[in-house]
Amino acid sequence: MNPVVPDSPENANGGPASSASAPVAPSASPAQQAPLRNGKEPSGASGAGDPALSASAAVLLADVMEGMGRAPKSLPCKYLYDAAGSRLFDRITELSAYYPTATERAIMQAHLDEMVACLGRRCLLLEYGSGSSLKTRLLLDQMSDPAGYVAIDISEEHLAASMRRLRAAYPHIPMRALAADYTTSFAVPSAEFEAARAVVYFPGSTIGNFEPREALDFLTRMAGAAGPGGGLLIGVDLEKDRPTVEAAYNDAEGVTAAFNKNLLRRLNRELGATFDLDAFRHRAVYNLDEGRIEMSLVSACRQTVRVNGHSVGFAEGEPILVEYSYKFTLARFRRLAERAGFAVQKVWTDANRLFSVQYLRVR
Ligand code: TRP
Repeated sequence: MNPVVPDSPENANGGPASSASAPVAPSASPAQQAPLRNGKEPSGASGAGDPALSASAAVLLADVMEGMGRAPKSLPCKYLYDAAGSRLFDRITELSAYYPTATERAIMQAHLDEMVACLGRRCLLLEYGSGSSLKTRLLLDQMSDPAGYVAIDISEEHLAASMRRLRAAYPHIPMRALAADYTTSFAVPSAEFEAARAVVYFPGSTIGNFEPREALDFLTRMAGAAGPGGGLLIGVDLEKDRPTVEAAYNDAEGVTAAFNKNLLRRLNRELGATFDLDAFRHRAVYNLDEGRIEMSLVSACRQTVRVNGHSVGFAEGEPILVEYSYKFTLARFRRLAERAGFAVQKVWTDANRLFSVQYLRVR
């Protein structure tokens, strides 16, 4: 269980969540409420072998070396979202080629009445991966007597900044910020809110960034977090033609490439790694057989990179897999949702059927 961060998590390090973080009761007394950082423990707590590394850096190192030992090599995509990565991702969402954000926003604007009707009165909204919470504002503007909003994000700095803005804009809505890796288990402070029901908000088609098996587990956990009478308002990207998808993940301005390469920059900074950012290129290919776009960093030459005392060799053209983004058919997503314990109550799409927003009710 991960700690709850009560207010603005300013003094955070933006580090990744650790599976080894200490459990903290959600309703901690004020004295306990100081800087609880998900995954951050007094240094030296790791078994990764380098006493100079903080516990969060040791977890990062262990995850990186595990990925470097795989065939093909891979890196966990959650590490894309440090402070700089979160800012670059915000820029991706503003690109004209990146259709998911604008399409999802338009769907929400067109059907907001029906969406807030699904949420109902006194709803507690739990957002997983809140980022800048921009689409959330549409809901907060229209919800009927909201019981509260809990924003969960892995990037503490980004979370603190967006919560400051949100609290100023919605002083009447009780809010909590949770700096956590939502793929691990963490305590949802629902008891603090007088809510009639809890609804998880999970936009952006981030569900597509999980492998099918993990997506099922994760949806099942979200059904548990929402609980009886609760639900899930989720953005789900749909299968479509190759050029549209590939353009969204290979933008001409190179923002997506910069976002992807920022992961290597992070490893250089936090682990003293020696990745040459010019010696890797971003690649995104739509794999129609698997129904997913595959994002990699490809080594431009034969090279050796040092990562905290380890040597990692790359052949010319060798990829590091960074992320998949699965695209769904409505039928396939419905099967997945039903297996996870939901019933699909509403599906909204755009006229071109690029994207969908769905309300799933906990069965
Ligand atoms: N959830 C986003 C998506 O699948 C994440 C994303 C967008 C992404 N562009 C990316 C991840 C580029 C890695 C690289 O669309």
